[in-house]
Amino acid sequence: MKILGLETSCDETGVAIYDSEHGLLSDVVFSQVKMHAKYGGVVPELASRDHIRKIGLLVNQATEEARIGLQDLDGVAYTAGPGLAGALLVGAGFSKSLAWGLDVPALGIHHMEGHLLAPMIDEVVPIDMPFLALLVSGGHTLLVDAFSLGSYEVLGESLDDAVGEAFDKVAKMLDLGYPGGPLVEQLAKSGDPDRFDFPRPMVNRPGLDFSFSGLKTHVRNTIAQHPIDAALKADVCRGFTDAVVDVLVVKCRRAIRQSGAKKLVVAGGVSANKDIRNGLEMLGKEEDVRIVFPSMQFTTDNGAMIAYVGYRRMGLGERDKTELAVRARWPLNELSSP
Ligand code: KG4
Ligand code: ZN
Repeated sequence: MKILGLETSCDETGVAIYDSEHGLLSDVVFSQVKMHAKYGGVVPELASRDHIRKIGLLVNQATEEARIGLQDLDGVAYTAGPGLAGALLVGAGFSKSLAWGLDVPALGIHHMEGHLLAPMIDEVVPIDMPFLALLVSGGHTLLVDAFSLGSYEVLGESLDDAVGEAFDKVAKMLDLGYPGGPLVEQLAKSGDPDRFDFPRPMVNRPGLDFSFSGLKTHVRNTIAQHPIDAALKADVCRGFTDAVVDVLVVKCRRAIRQSGAKKLVVAGGVSANKDIRNGLEMLGKEEDVRIVFPSMQFTTDNGAMIAYVGYRRMGLGERDKTELAVRARWPLNELSSP
């Protein structure tokens, strides 16, 4: 069974082919980062238009790299939400038409389920559910109890900014560029960990929800009180990252102890961050919990995770029931089991 997966929820056009026998056959991603960088963030209408320009070319590239023809495909999976409505519609419209033309089924996939299962794409040691998951991306910060495919309970989430969004905003305040996460990570390496002691929001309150807007405001006020030089930039990045790591570790520890989980999956774009990986690895050792991350290429948005979830769900016979439909907002616990 060969499934084509298309991801167009935001500013990456991702196309991949996953084969039930041989695993991932191809995975191509075109990032629109350069186009959006001059605006300091994603411009939705430009994103949609660029997906239209690239999607056909990337599908051709993916089939060539996989050494198969379109007629060899058994299904087309696409991101149906959450994300930018216009960008989602490009992938959904393209996928539905292609599937109809090839006479194979199409299936809309939840973007965060893609992130959730991304570590399984090239798993060496099986990562079976149930497990606990921390999903950290540009749009979401979720602590999830994953029981089985499609059966997820959101235990906690950000009440305001997502972690990735906070990284991007701090980068913008420091004039580093977009997307901010990787740039903040780079600068933090040379920052002084003792110069700023930023707040760790919500750690002393019970529960598993997060909040990052207070931390962001604190960073903004700190920057306003100092001349912006190279040292300040690095020190702010260090202090901000340390605060984020501490918050994530505290909340994950609490979730582990509450649920008794033995496995914690950490995925989404922000899971590329080495400081966050190190902090959570340490937590895993302390709590005797296996910590699982996706391979680096599957942390930020990609078609492989959509193709993989498509393979899992279509393999169980799931098909789109509706005509063309996308959901810009879509809570993860409104998913059903296939
Ligand atoms: O999952 P993703 O590619 O897209 C969404 O679903 O939102 O995540 C993108 C987010 C951005 O906010 C980006 O700044 C952040 O992930 N990110 C990082 C790193 N790489 C990407 N944040 C911190 N450190 C990184 N190395
Ligand atoms: Zn994502």
